[in-house]
Amino acid sequence: MKNNRRDFLRLTSLAGAGVLAGSINPAIANPHLISGSTKKQRFNMSGYAAPKLDTVRIGFIGLGNRGPHAVERMSIIEGVDIKALCDIRDEKANAAKALLQGSVHNPQVYSGKPDEWKKLCERSDIDLVYIASPWALHTPMAVYAMEHGKHVCVEVPAAKTIEECWQLVETSERTRKHCMILENCCYDFFELLVLNMVRQGLFGDIVHGEGAYIHDLMELNFSKTYYYDMWRLKENLRNGNLYPTHGLGPVAWVMDINRGDKMESMISMQSNDSSMQAMANELAAKDDFYKPFANKKFRGNMNTTVIRTNKGRTIMLQHDVSSPAIYSRIFKINGTKGSCLKYPEPSKIALSHQNWLSEADYKKVEDQYTPPIIKKMGEMAKKVGGHGGMDFIMDWRTIDCLRNGLPLDIDVYDSALWSSMAPLSEWSVAHNSAPIAIPDFTAGSWKTNKQVDISLQNAGTTQVR
Ligand SMILES: NC(=O)c1ccc[n+]([C@@H]2O[C@H](COP(=O)([O-])OP(=O)(O)OC[C@H]3O[C@@H](n4cnc5c(N)ncnc54)[C@H](O)[C@@H]3O)[C@@H](O)[C@H]2O)c1
Repeated sequence: MKNNRRDFLRLTSLAGAGVLAGSINPAIANPHLISGSTKKQRFNMSGYAAPKLDTVRIGFIGLGNRGPHAVERMSIIEGVDIKALCDIRDEKANAAKALLQGSVHNPQVYSGKPDEWKKLCERSDIDLVYIASPWALHTPMAVYAMEHGKHVCVEVPAAKTIEECWQLVETSERTRKHCMILENCCYDFFELLVLNMVRQGLFGDIVHGEGAYIHDLMELNFSKTYYYDMWRLKENLRNGNLYPTHGLGPVAWVMDINRGDKMESMISMQSNDSSMQAMANELAAKDDFYKPFANKKFRGNMNTTVIRTNKGRTIMLQHDVSSPAIYSRIFKINGTKGSCLKYPEPSKIALSHQNWLSEADYKKVEDQYTPPIIKKMGEMAKKVGGHGGMDFIMDWRTIDCLRNGLPLDIDVYDSALWSSMAPLSEWSVAHNSAPIAIPDFTAGSWKTNKQVDISLQNAGTTQVR
């Protein structure tokens, strides 16, 4: 059993490269033999409260589409000092700096070279590095930042491979620095209302959850300018659920995953690609720019992954960014007494099997069970914006926790586990949807780790400028 994790890592990375497809290794045939659960935990980062920071000094890396919005949101939170901005492209870094003109912030700009971000991480006057770069850079940047004594907030997904997931865990435990995946969907209004209702017992025992990211990104992925250096189109050459965390995060919170329950195993199935290769070929016929993408094997349109937890619950996760389906981030919870469904909107709640609550009854439960964080920050967040306000709630809550010396809601184990769905699904898809064991990044501490606190206890002191 001692070498199990090493085997798991090796096999998963080989599977990711497609090396093993078609030749089933005996260890893979029984994935429970290759669980990563034998790892010993160095230090438990779940529930870990780092020393209080009155002022949170932030450096941002990656200022393309997503990063500048985070800069703007953070700039109005009390106790935030934006010290540095980095993007490989001068114009992006300078544009983000221009957003702060007239504010209390005067960040130094790092740009022009691929490794400039390291200089930002090396500064001694930064507490938090906030990363919104392409996926392949997430773990290298997060690890380097933690090694240099910084807490890290990193965009979704935090890691691309199982090795990277473990690297995040090992570095966070060793350095005692937070590593939080920026899973904004955990902070959406409906998801938090349902979480509070589940905590109050209104849904009974939770038996099943569903989550998804279904968003037609064809135009954006094939745009020459939208994503830096076509990084997102290139990622779609991997076949699996590449973007699992928006759907999974809120379901994981409802099920207390890593905090009382644990994901045990998954299977993953992928449809054919009916659009990406065709689009690449069509574009390449007219424009040499697209020639490197012609006749490539892109991921199939729809991925469906099914997970089973230690307590016998199931989770279905879907991912489709290449068929013309209506946008959906399914959030479905089935309990023994209640259920809910988000998408299509308006969201629904049922407290019996007969009917969804009427508008009037929904309003009553909403008034009664909206959790304190939404009561306090909801209206302000709607004004600030960012996916309807959830982005601001996430950023504000993170800063408020750091300033009050509280654990962050999302820790490195969540960051690793939620991100690991992508490489694990790639493995399962490449092996005819065979089941695969899910590593226990908490090394057993899931049994005693505390639930995410949604009470705002000892918190909520941070104002907005
Ligand atoms: N949570 C959400 O709702 C949400 C929404 C959109 C995007 N995202 C995530 O945000 C991240 C960024 O996405 P995006 O749409 O902004 O992509 P983008 O391509 O617009 O931005 C990435 C930026 O990183 C910069 N970059 C690339 N290499 C760099 C390097 N070596 N050093 C410094 N900067 C470098 C690029 O110049 C670019 O400006 C992704 O991880 C994506 O998944 C999350």
